[in-house]
Amino acid sequence: MLEGSTPLDWHSASWRQQLRRRLRTWYADHRRSLPWRESTDPYRIWVSEIMLQQTQVQTVRAYFLRFMQRFPTVQDLAVADEQEVLRLWEGLGYYRRARQMHLAARVIVDQHEGVFPTDFDAVLALPGIGRYTAGAILSISQDQRLPILEANTIRLNARLTALPDDPRSKAGQDLLWEFAEAILPTKRVGEFNQALMELGSLVCTPKTPRCLVCPLKDLCPTCQQGLQGRIPLAPQKTVYHDVHEVAVVVQRNSKFLLRRCQPNERWAGLWDFIRFPVESDAVSDIELQKQIFALTNLDAGSFQALTTIRHGVTKYRITLRCVLAAGISGRINRSAELQWVTRTQLAQIPLSVTGRKISKLL
Ligand code: ADE
Repeated sequence: MLEGSTPLDWHSASWRQQLRRRLRTWYADHRRSLPWRESTDPYRIWVSEIMLQQTQVQTVRAYFLRFMQRFPTVQDLAVADEQEVLRLWEGLGYYRRARQMHLAARVIVDQHEGVFPTDFDAVLALPGIGRYTAGAILSISQDQRLPILEANTIRLNARLTALPDDPRSKAGQDLLWEFAEAILPTKRVGEFNQALMELGSLVCTPKTPRCLVCPLKDLCPTCQQGLQGRIPLAPQKTVYHDVHEVAVVVQRNSKFLLRRCQPNERWAGLWDFIRFPVESDAVSDIELQKQIFALTNLDAGSFQALTTIRHGVTKYRITLRCVLAAGISGRINRSAELQWVTRTQLAQIPLSVTGRKISKLL
């Protein structure tokens, strides 16, 4: 190859070498200061990576700091009550992540003497940890030579390889992992992996990527061919479903009735006001009374409108009518599923997102 010219594509060793060099130089100047980057403690890296799945860096910052203050070590997390873990997670969404992490902390204490494992297969065997997270934790904390592939690097790598396939398909995933492995340096792997994520997040953005300032623009076939709008291939459009639900605030003697969301329900493990699906917005008081009785064994006399909340969860567009029930009589079913709580307890218990919104109206 001629001096100064650009190698063809990622199959060439000099292309990969240039990528590593340019990326490192760029990262040294553009790296954001983030709380989980201040230490190489695998526990801290683990917590940050779990929080960063499906959640923006800016949102994670405050949650991470609060979580670390309360649970500074894996032992602190392992002995904690699940309700407290969920309360600290409240608002981050995807609560299964928190429950799995709590479970994994207990496995680390029981099976690894409380020390975060550094063997790839042992990390992969922990609840809630897949190939990406195991690679991220061990490359960032131990500099183990392991590739990563998450939302930012899927997009970046798809463009650097001009990936013709859907990146979620088997063929797409195989090629992206192969690429992620091929470009790894032999040293400072954690820094390199974080630089890839940073470039994906700050420059190689989904819409209108900032190719003019990209350190890899000469190496990128997608940029060279002006295909940024077509690579990566867009996912199929989500088909949304409109659903109607009602949340009922049942209050008696200054206590509120909460129901714990069951394992097969949205927000499993969190608490909520009495909530159920209905056919439409125009539901009669008799229908509300029936549903409340079925769930709680209580009779409600009348209802007062509180508010209507519109929100989306995965493919559902939910219209949630919130009402306050009056004239409560009867006794609740004796079950761990239902609980009367005071206003103070309401502030401490982990609530669904809409449950928390309603509680702030009371
Ligand atoms: N997204 C997932 N992991 C990340 C990390 N370590 N830094 C920045 N963004 C990320």
